[in-house]
Amino acid sequence: MVTSPPSNALRGTMLLVLLAGAFTVMYFKLLLSLPCYPSPPHRVRQSKHSLLRPAEVSEANKPLVLVWFWPDDKQFPLSDCRRLFNIDNCRLTDDRSEYSKARGVVIHHSAISGDLSNIPKTRPRFQRWIWLNMDSPSRTRRVEGLKSLFNLTVTYRKDSDIHVRWKVAVRRATDGPFQFPLKKRTVCWVLDSENLESNGSKSYSFFTELAKHIEVDLLNKSSEELQGDGYFSVIASCKFYLSFENSVHTDYITETFTRPLAAGTVPVVWGPPRRNYEKFAPGTSFIHVKDFPDAAGLPKFLQNLDSDLEAYMKYFEWWKFYTLRRPLTDERYTYARTICQACRYVGLNKNYRVVKDLYKWFLE
Ligand SMILES: *[C@@H]1O[C@H](CO)[C@@H](O)[C@H](O)[C@H]1NC(C)=O
Ligand SMILES: *[C@@H]1O[C@H](CO)[C@@H](O)[C@H](O)[C@H]1NC(C)=O
Repeated sequence: MVTSPPSNALRGTMLLVLLAGAFTVMYFKLLLSLPCYPSPPHRVRQSKHSLLRPAEVSEANKPLVLVWFWPDDKQFPLSDCRRLFNIDNCRLTDDRSEYSKARGVVIHHSAISGDLSNIPKTRPRFQRWIWLNMDSPSRTRRVEGLKSLFNLTVTYRKDSDIHVRWKVAVRRATDGPFQFPLKKRTVCWVLDSENLESNGSKSYSFFTELAKHIEVDLLNKSSEELQGDGYFSVIASCKFYLSFENSVHTDYITETFTRPLAAGTVPVVWGPPRRNYEKFAPGTSFIHVKDFPDAAGLPKFLQNLDSDLEAYMKYFEWWKFYTLRRPLTDERYTYARTICQACRYVGLNKNYRVVKDLYKWFLE
């Protein structure tokens, strides 16, 4: 009752399987022997749509991203995301009358008023608000009511939804060889309002200590020779550059580092630990102040490198394999990469998300 010997039904099934196998073999033989015909005509008709240039078809369908405030009034032509970063999967606008259609709204933190009166009150269900902040936590003002108002974050931090990436890139044949710049100065530092602000900070007292042992060329940020691309030729003429961040935070590695690195000098960095820098740039491309136990070790090391060209040139070997694009010097483009990347993200991702506790994540 419980078990039964192989029944007729089972034998029947096996027969069917065998037959099916035989048919399959025959079918494929037949398929192989068929002559090759051109694709059937309906296929040609189907591809008619793609004859239109993709840009024409989809421009109106691209997700719209609204820039609510121009960060620090730095305004660049919105169509430049394509020209500069090859980003073309979204449409940017700064026209607030398009608010109700925008899939993403980029809101610059430091422009938000304390009573939130200058940001929208309501938002369409599909819309995502993007918190833009390129400042470090030390310079980020706490505004009440933002705790869980945003859906996405765009900051310098690697763990943001949209991380503003800069990184050395693998060198391609088309990049051309690296030209080692002529050196005329040893250690340089550009003084600007940020350095002045940090006068009295740890990095500033480190600088004064350093300057006792080694000559530092202090350059004035607003001097004529440092304007535009002139910056790169002046900085390239320095063997070392003091890339001191105004405050120390994970991933807070700013243009104070990237610009001199791209110019062709060796940055001496003050900021997060060495291993954090090494996430973005080769470990042999810079010198970290914490590589030395005290302030006297560093100037001695720099002096030795200054008189030993072979040892100094080791800091440029990475250029054989990598390259770093010079950041745009035009002030208007300060936030271009940030805004373009936010736009790109909205074009690629549709997921629902709420930033639970903005300040807990960013400030603590
Ligand atoms: C730093 O501050 C001191 C005293 O406040 C001042 O004398 C000095 O000129 C400042 N240094 C720079 C580079 O501004
Ligand atoms: C965006 O965040 C807000 C506020 O937390 C939330 O109400 C809304 O549903 C979120 N929208 C999307 C599309 O993620």
